[in-house]
Amino acid sequence: MWSSRFAFILAVAGSAVGLGNIWKFPYMAGENGGGAFVLFYLLCVVAIGLPIMVSEIMIGRRGRRNPIATMRIVGEEEGSRPSWGLVGVMGIFAGFLILSFYSVIAGWALAYFVFSLGGEFTGGTPETIGALFASLLGDWKMLGLWHTIFMVLTVGIVARGVERGLERFVRIAMPGLLLLMIILLVYAIVAADFASGWRFLLTPDLEALTPQAMLEAMGQAFFTLSVGMGAIMAYGAYLPEGTSILRTSIWVVVTDTAIALLAGLIIFPIVFANGLDPASGPGLIFETLPLAFGSMPGGAFLAPVFFGLLVFAAWTSGIGLLEPAVAWSVESHGRSRRSAAIVIGAIVWALGFLTLLSFNVFADFKFLGGTLFQNIDHLASNILLPLGGLFIAIFAGWVMCKNSSSEELDIGTGPAYQAWRFLARWLAPAAVLVVFLHATGLLGRFGLM
Ligand code: PHE
Repeated sequence: MWSSRFAFILAVAGSAVGLGNIWKFPYMAGENGGGAFVLFYLLCVVAIGLPIMVSEIMIGRRGRRNPIATMRIVGEEEGSRPSWGLVGVMGIFAGFLILSFYSVIAGWALAYFVFSLGGEFTGGTPETIGALFASLLGDWKMLGLWHTIFMVLTVGIVARGVERGLERFVRIAMPGLLLLMIILLVYAIVAADFASGWRFLLTPDLEALTPQAMLEAMGQAFFTLSVGMGAIMAYGAYLPEGTSILRTSIWVVVTDTAIALLAGLIIFPIVFANGLDPASGPGLIFETLPLAFGSMPGGAFLAPVFFGLLVFAAWTSGIGLLEPAVAWSVESHGRSRRSAAIVIGAIVWALGFLTLLSFNVFADFKFLGGTLFQNIDHLASNILLPLGGLFIAIFAGWVMCKNSSSEELDIGTGPAYQAWRFLARWLAPAAVLVVFLHATGLLGRFGLM
């Protein structure tokens, strides 16, 4: 059990806040034309992500097991089929896929931590900073080393049990990260092209909102909130009775969204001030932030602190990605936590190793329209997470009876409960389906959108 409500909020926030906010959100917004993507992402966060987060915590606390067993057992209690456990299986698979590339990117952050200690950013220009990133990407052995270190760190915590390892450092890392981002924001306002960055990020140009961009914005909402795969459900399993699920969820969603927007408001002013390309892809933060650190007062000191905190944030998310699979292996197969974490970690590591080759050796090897990294990310983030979320919402809204959900949420049956239930039963599932259909081009073909 978590020691307090605050500890639980920290753990969920630690899982939610990570590379998704600081690395992925800015580059996805950049690739998809900015404002309209951001607006649609915000809509998805509120109308889909929040009710699903509430549902996940609620189901997790009711089942008190790993996501597969929880979905199966709560499903049976509610008079439905044990096959609901399959939603947990899909979630564990999604977490597995995500962690494989997540660890690779966290490895980049580790490398940048070391670069910054060596003063590599000082006086950097867009050319030298770009060259630094390119040389890192080209060196698969170094990438492999950093990826390995990150996986070892993650497995180390999960092997020991999440509650013990996690609480202490989220408590320090989260406020620290926020503070550094505020310093960077000040830099972006005084020294970069803040007006252009603001305009790009927050002025929606609805033309840019293609069906593909909508799918990616929805996937990003799931990814950044850690919902749709059972990670939050696995944490909910350790939540004491009497903690407000709704308030916790709102708190986490607001924090997570604020950090993503903050990241965007830091990155894009730097992009425009230096004539960089907002659509340059996954390297975006690594090509922009070092420019800020390289030219701001105290940057040589702040850069390692920032990248260190980014690694921490990625670490607490990596733990959340690995935990459901390990909990399942321990509870259902009687493995020890240690051996489960090591075996599963090793498989994820191997897949991650293949992924990191898609940034160099196999960069030109594309199938299904992308590199291995792009395909794994697309499958997990844009398809499996929303699909998992769809089932979780249906489960919470339709399979669980009104008595069970209102009892578990403990907010009576007033407007807050009604609003959640409407979102979980109708709006969230319908929205996911519509975005899926839209992305296949079917709605367009019938003239519906
Ligand atoms: N939400 C995390 C991030 O934004 C990633 C994550 C997804 C973690 C799913 C756990 C489960 O970085």
